[in-house]
Amino acid sequence: MPSFDQVLAIETSCDDTSVAIVNKEGEVKSICSVNQDLAHKPFGGIVPEVAGRNHVTHLMPLVELCFKKGEMKWSDIQGITVTSRPGLIGSLIVGLVTAKTLSFAHGIPFIGVNHLEGHLLAPFLKDKTYRPPENFCYPYIALTVSGGHSHLCYVKSLGEYHILGQTIDDAAGEAFDKFAKVLGLGFPGGVQVDKFSKQGSKESFIFPRPLIKEDNYNFSFSGLKTAGLRAFKKLTLEEQKKQIPNLCASYQEAIVDCLMQKAQRAIDKTGIQKIIFTGGVSANSRLRERALEWSKKNHIEMVIPPLRYCTDNAAMIGYAGIQRLNRGEFSLQSLEASPSIDENDFIMSV
Ligand code: KG4
Ligand code: ZN
Repeated sequence: MPSFDQVLAIETSCDDTSVAIVNKEGEVKSICSVNQDLAHKPFGGIVPEVAGRNHVTHLMPLVELCFKKGEMKWSDIQGITVTSRPGLIGSLIVGLVTAKTLSFAHGIPFIGVNHLEGHLLAPFLKDKTYRPPENFCYPYIALTVSGGHSHLCYVKSLGEYHILGQTIDDAAGEAFDKFAKVLGLGFPGGVQVDKFSKQGSKESFIFPRPLIKEDNYNFSFSGLKTAGLRAFKKLTLEEQKKQIPNLCASYQEAIVDCLMQKAQRAIDKTGIQKIIFTGGVSANSRLRERALEWSKKNHIEMVIPPLRYCTDNAAMIGYAGIQRLNRGEFSLQSLEASPSIDENDFIMSV
């Protein structure tokens, strides 16, 4: 069986174009990414067509730049890993077709990776300025919260991922973004809500904490979003402007409460005292503050990878893919991109 020391990784599942060279130990040798926030800003949200076109423009120059930055050449890598599911179909196709073409042209294998598996394995990534805690290992609980996903998983070992719970409607990041849009704070909204919250009081408005008392690991944010919209609409124009920090702080606290409550339940029920937070929402300063206090108080080992490995990035796809290539797995040229999760990727459990 061939051995893979280093791979080229491609991530284009949503609105970030990212290319990385990663080795089998998770060392990120080079990473180059382009964020499309400016392109989507005028629309107040991600436009799939715009995302796909931007990936086409950015991807190949990023591949070249990634080799240059890492002072490497094609002969230094033995395979290609690429996100093939889930995500925006047009965006995924750009990455997958590019990976297939490069694999064929350079005579090296490629593998399609589940984007969520990438997020789950992000705590193994390291680079010149960041090292994860020494001896970090399976099993652990993972809370993945981004614009597209809110999943609570039990990561037993490589390839053995139990989905304990997930959102039944909007993702946590979506709840932040949609509320920010109502408040006229711009895109992406999570960062704005976080910023305004710092000057507000979290007790000013009473918002619901959907599903918080239910004995499961699911999330629901659409009712909270409606409550936020109603509270805002009830105010006069003058009050609306004045109350933005208070609305943000109260709304943010409700989301963080839901996330922390379910994380606590997962730790209590599984008995696993180790958790990782990942996805763009894990950048939220209040979530980080609460998670840190909680982990210290309860003696829980917690890892929040640096933001560059929490948000969508190719390095996590490289790490997940190279582990699988080294287990003898690879994809065929007939592999198709899929907007949803492959039913074999995860084990559903409660
Ligand atoms: O992981 P990510 O970069 O892309 C995917 O959606 O997969 O996550 C982006 C999401 C957006 O919804 C954004 O508003 C949210 O992460 N986000 C935040 C913060 N920074 C980014 N949400 C709350 N607070 C933040 N500081
Ligand atoms: Zn993601």
